[in-house]
Amino acid sequence: MIIIDGKKVSASVKDEVKKETEALIAQGITPGLAVILIGDDPASRVYVNNKKKACEYVGFKSEEFALPASTTQEELLSLVNELNERKDINGILCQLPLPEGLDDNAVIEAISPIKDVDAFHKQNVGRIMIGDYDFLPCTPAGIMEMLSAYDISVDGKKCVVIGRSNIVGKPMAMLLLHENGTVTICHSHTKNLKDITSEADILVAAIGKPKFVTADMVKEGAVVIDVGMDRDEKGKLCGDVDFENVKEKCSYITPVPGGVGPMTIATLMKNTLKAAKLQNDIEW
Ligand code: GUN
Repeated sequence: MIIIDGKKVSASVKDEVKKETEALIAQGITPGLAVILIGDDPASRVYVNNKKKACEYVGFKSEEFALPASTTQEELLSLVNELNERKDINGILCQLPLPEGLDDNAVIEAISPIKDVDAFHKQNVGRIMIGDYDFLPCTPAGIMEMLSAYDISVDGKKCVVIGRSNIVGKPMAMLLLHENGTVTICHSHTKNLKDITSEADILVAAIGKPKFVTADMVKEGAVVIDVGMDRDEKGKLCGDVDFENVKEKCSYITPVPGGVGPMTIATLMKNTLKAAKLQNDIEW
C-alpha cells in the first residue's frame, strides 16, 4: 500500500508555476488573484490563508477581500464587477459556501469566465463537458494530476465517485470519463451503496461525512481518494474515509491532511497563471 503524498506532488506543481511566473514577471506581468471571503467560517479562513500563502510562494500578487456575513448581495456583486474590470487582477475566487442569505450561483455567474479560476461559471462548466476548456476545477483536476504523478491509469477502470456537488463530484466524474474511466456517481439516494463502491478500482469520496467509507466498502487493491475535510468525534481533522482500516485494503490511498487539499491549491495556482497568460495574449 502506498500513501499518496499530495504535499510532494503539489510542491512540484507549484515550483513549475513559480518558474513560469518569474518569466512572466520579467515581461512585466505579475499574475494577480483576488480572494473574497465572506463571514467568519473558520474552515474557509484556513483555506483562504493557504491560498494566499501559495500565491506568495509562486510570486503572484494576492488581494484578500474579507467582508462581514452581513454583506448584501448587491455589495458582493458590485465588488465582483469592480474586480472584473481591473487589469491587475487575473483571477477571482469567492470562497464557498457563502453565509445564509447570499446566493452562491449569482456570485459565480457574475465572475467573468476568463477570470473564473475555480471553473465554476456555467460557461466554463459547459466547456469542460465537451472537452474544450481553459480552466479545470481545482479539486478534481488536482486529483487527476496526483493520479498521473503516481502513474495510476484511469483508462478502462471502474471509477466510483461518492458525492454529486458542482464543486467536486460532478466535475470529478467528467474528468475521469475524459480519461476513459467507466464512471458511476453515487449520492444520498443511492441504493446498495456498498455493492457499488466495492466494485471500484478507483474510489473517490467527496461526501463531507467523517470516516464514512469503511473497509467493507472497498475492494482489495483499490485506489482510494479522500476529498473530505471533516472533524472526528474528538474534533480532530479527518477525511471521508476511515483511513486506518481502509488503508490495509488499498493499493494507493490519500491521507487527510496532506492528500487532496494541497493539490486543490496547486491547481488554483496553475489556473491563475493561465488566466494571466490568456488575458495578456501570451501563448499557453
Ligand atoms: N469551497 C470548497 N472548495 C472550494 C473551491 O475549490 N473553491 C471555492 N471558491 N470555494 C470552495
